[in-house]
Amino acid sequence: MQKKYELYRGKVKTVYITDNPDLLIIEFRNIVSALDGNRFEYFDRKGMINNKLNYFVMSMLEKAGILTHIEALYSKNEILVKNLDMIPLECVIRNRAAGSLVKRFSLVEGEVLDPPIFEMFLKNDAKHDPLVNESHCETLNLVNVNHLSYIKSLSFKINHLLSRLFNNIGLILVDFKLEFGIFHGTVVLGDEFSPDSARLWDKITLNKMDKDIYRYGLSGLIAAYEDVANRLGVILD
Ligand code: TMP
Repeated sequence: MQKKYELYRGKVKTVYITDNPDLLIIEFRNIVSALDGNRFEYFDRKGMINNKLNYFVMSMLEKAGILTHIEALYSKNEILVKNLDMIPLECVIRNRAAGSLVKRFSLVEGEVLDPPIFEMFLKNDAKHDPLVNESHCETLNLVNVNHLSYIKSLSFKINHLLSRLFNNIGLILVDFKLEFGIFHGTVVLGDEFSPDSARLWDKITLNKMDKDIYRYGLSGLIAAYEDVANRLGVILD
């Protein structure tokens, strides 16, 4: 598969066109960003760790019957994926109160949310990714209603699989974000799953093992990402 040219440069990932119109290459760069991209920093090895961790988690989901965009690892910090027509939503599942939910409802961080909460945010940097509901999605034609109910049920199924996966390695899956797209008429999980797009806490110490380390100005970001990868059994370099 030949990488041809850059299609889109995001805050931490770059997407490349290939010589096959059905396939793209995503590069995970050594950058972490926060605050709508207003703060960012270089971290050696981060791209490789997230690429391999994402590939591991998505492969596990594939084996469990979830359709994902992953095809193969392309290099240590790049992955070959299906070229999806992306749905402009960030779907968030929350098992415990954290982040923006704590601020919105004045909750105590860590409070168990039973049943878990499903939220959607419109992908629009200029509008700071506003929270949207199913009614917005239908009226504003953001996503086909049948696809929407499928995406919601898939998000809960993925939560079930991933909560168990992380629980088995001593981590609490606090919350995470998913993005979906359409590939030849079928809903497929796209984008990434990594400690950039999820909150993971150690079950015993409740230490944060995700991007909150950077958001809160703490140290040890790469060590924590590596710890998550090692516990999963991901082979790094
Ligand atoms: P939040 O608490 O900031 O709303 O985020 C909830 C979870 O979703 C957290 O794990 C981070 C992830 N997330 C992203 O990765 N990107 C986003 O744009 C949003 C809104 C959330």
